[in-house]
Amino acid sequence: MAATPQVRTDAALIAALENANYHPLWDRYKRITPVTPRAKDEPMHWPWRGFEPFVARAAKEVPIEDVERRAIIMVNPAFGGETVTTGNLIGAFTVLQPGDHAVPHRHTASAIRFATRAKGAVTIVNGRRCEMHEGDLVLTPAMCWHGHINESDHGTTWFDAANMPLICNLDASFFEPGLRSEKAFWEVDQGDERLYAASGLAPASDAPKTSHSPKYRYPGEETRAMLASMPPGPDGSRTLRYVNPVSGGAVMPSLDCYAKRLSAKTPTRTRRATYNQIVLCVSGEGRSTIGDKTIEWRKHDVFTIPHWTWAQHEALYGDADLFIVTDRSVFEALDLVRVEFQ
Ligand SMILES: [Fe+2]
Repeated sequence: MAATPQVRTDAALIAALENANYHPLWDRYKRITPVTPRAKDEPMHWPWRGFEPFVARAAKEVPIEDVERRAIIMVNPAFGGETVTTGNLIGAFTVLQPGDHAVPHRHTASAIRFATRAKGAVTIVNGRRCEMHEGDLVLTPAMCWHGHINESDHGTTWFDAANMPLICNLDASFFEPGLRSEKAFWEVDQGDERLYAASGLAPASDAPKTSHSPKYRYPGEETRAMLASMPPGPDGSRTLRYVNPVSGGAVMPSLDCYAKRLSAKTPTRTRRATYNQIVLCVSGEGRSTIGDKTIEWRKHDVFTIPHWTWAQHEALYGDADLFIVTDRSVFEALDLVRVEFQ
């Protein structure tokens, strides 16, 4: 004889509560208060060799005059068709053809550019000219006017990351278009970027009151020199944080960037953190085990480390450099950073 299903003694009460727009905590406590974070997405890998043909097609088929930005965003289908790379972040590549101007605008989302094949491209940020040499990081913080131009005679491409998923989840997105015809926007020099061009020096007076770094351009040449000078940690890796020279903290309240050099054939300690990470391979080749997946990557490949997912990296055949963009500073502000090692 089949067992009679047990009817909860509070079933009628729960139904009545739900009907009156109340929820009883006691029957859904575990759903409201999960024991640990659970990322929706598995790690994902976008090899550059698969991406490059789309970048070439976009350059040919999409006139810059018709679009706000000629960028292609990496999307994980785990987010159900939403434009999300991992967690609060999107990663993309932008392509500009010779003479292209990507129209000025500003918005409450924050973004970064990392120059991969961008020699000859320039980003203007709040009236400052930021050239994009190999490995340069350029910040476009929230509500800073920015536009891009390719002054060279060849196509340029760079890696972008931004926090639109976070801003849209908070429903805090504001966007202001600039004028495509405004010539003065493009006719600027380095401007106040000079005040922060030397590492370790910042003006003592009139410190900017902004929550983001007053320095917008971090030259790749200096990052590479610094990585070469640093002693490796016990697992052979060297990690630099890009910092706001005034506060010493993250470059922006919602984006936090790192440069990492891996020593050949020395696996890093397996680690997990509460924040989300998008990784760009800047140089070299290697292998990462992230969650249950092992990914083999090479120059300009991109992969994700979803939050609270174990990750270990190893360079193959020589040292490898990674650029890592994260939302760590959001978690830091909320006192939610946790890091564990195996
Ligand atoms: Fe933008």
